[in-house]
Amino acid sequence: MAEKLKIGLLGLGTVGSGVPLILEEHKEKISQITGMDIEISKALVRNEERMAYHAGRFNFELVDDFDEILNDDEIQIVVELIGKIEPAKSYISKALENGKHVVTANKDLLAQYGSKLVSLAQGNHVDLYFEGSVAGGIPILRTIANSLAADSIQKVYGIVNGTTNYMLTQMISESKSYDDALKEAQELGFAESDPTNDVDGIDAAYKMVILSQFAFGMNITVDQVEIKGIRDISVDDVKMAQNLGYEIKLIGSSELCDDSISVEVSPMFIPKTHPLATVRNESNAVYINSQGVGNSMYYGPGAGAKPTATSVVSDIITIAKNIKMGTVGHRFNAFKFQTKITKDNSVFSKYYFSVELPDVYGQMLQLAKIFTESGVSFEQIVQHKSEKENARIIIITHSASKCQIKRVVYELSNTDGFKVLSQYKVFGE
Ligand code: HSE
Repeated sequence: MAEKLKIGLLGLGTVGSGVPLILEEHKEKISQITGMDIEISKALVRNEERMAYHAGRFNFELVDDFDEILNDDEIQIVVELIGKIEPAKSYISKALENGKHVVTANKDLLAQYGSKLVSLAQGNHVDLYFEGSVAGGIPILRTIANSLAADSIQKVYGIVNGTTNYMLTQMISESKSYDDALKEAQELGFAESDPTNDVDGIDAAYKMVILSQFAFGMNITVDQVEIKGIRDISVDDVKMAQNLGYEIKLIGSSELCDDSISVEVSPMFIPKTHPLATVRNESNAVYINSQGVGNSMYYGPGAGAKPTATSVVSDIITIAKNIKMGTVGHRFNAFKFQTKITKDNSVFSKYYFSVELPDVYGQMLQLAKIFTESGVSFEQIVQHKSEKENARIIIITHSASKCQIKRVVYELSNTDGFKVLSQYKVFGE
C-alpha cells in the first residue's frame, strides 16, 4: 500500500473547496507520480455546519481551532487558502516553525511578507510553494523558475487582474458603464470581497512584486511599484484608443535596465495587433521578453475554483516528490540578485495624452513648446472640438523618460487654460 501524505487545509472557500475535488479527480495519477496517497485529513473552517457537506463527501474532519492542525503530527503539509494577512500569516509562520511544509495562494501576504516567510521556511528546512498566488491557473512561477532558468528575462508584462480586464473588455466591446461592468464582475465572482484592490491596481501590484522576484531575483516592496488603477479611464479615452488602433488594458510591467528594475501597474494603450490586446474578459496573460526564447506569452484563467486549485495541488505534488526524494527545504525560486530600482530618467515609454486647451490663436504653439522644451517629440497628434470654446488635443509621443513626462505634465498643469484630461503609457517594444 502506498505511503499516506496528510494535509491540513485552512479555508473551504472558492479555491479551498476545489482542492479536495482536484485531489479526488486525479487520485490515481497523483499516486503514480508521487508514490503517495495524498489526502486531506482536517479542514479549518469558521462555520462547521455550513461546510459539513464537503467534509462528509471527502471524508475529512472539520475543525475550528488551528492548533488541532498544528499539533497533529501526522499532518505534513498545511494548505492556506484563507487569504489576506491575518490570521493567515500567523498560521503559516507557526506551521513552518513546527516543521510543516506550506502551500498558499495568498498574493497579499506573499507580496508583503514573502521574503520573511521564505527565510522562515529555509530556517526550518521545510518547503513553501505558492504557484496559485499569481494568475490562478497559469503555471507562470514554475515556468519562470524552471523552464526559463537558462534564460535572461528582460521584461515582464502582465494582465494579472481578471476583474479589471473583464470590466475594460465590457466597457470597450459592449459599451457598458464602469459601474455596470464592476457589478457584473462581482456577480461573476472574479472580484475581491472589496473590489478596491482590483480597480485601484493593488491586487495587480502584489502579483507584480511576486513576478519580479521570480523574473529578476529582486525583493521589491509594494511601495516601490508605481500604481494607477482604472477608475479614471473615460469613455472618450476608450473611444480614442479604438480609433487610434489600440486597446486599453491594465498592465503590470517589470522591466530590467542594466542591473535595476522598474515596476509599474497602470492602464496602457496596447496595439490591437499585439497578443496582449487579444486577452479578453476575466482571462489573464503574462508576456515575457527574454534573451534566449525571445517573446513568449502565457495565457489562461487567472482565478476560479478549479484553475487555482489545480495550481495549489501541483504545489502539493511538488512537495510530495521532495519528501520522497529527501530534497525538501529548497526555495521555490532560488534566483537572487541585489535589489535596485531604476531611476525615472532611465525608464522610457511612449505616452498618450489628452489635453484640453482654449481653441484660440497661438495655443498649439504653446503646447508644442512645452513638449519640445522637455525633449518630448510627437508621433501622432489629433485635434477635436471640445465643449465651449475649447479644443481637445490627443497626442501619442515618441519614447520619452518618466522624468520628461512628469515635467510635461507639470508644465501643462501650470499653464493657464490648459488641462491634462488623461495620460497613459503606450506599449512599444
Ligand atoms: N480579484 C482577482 C482578479 C482574483 O480579479 O484577478 C485572483 O487573484
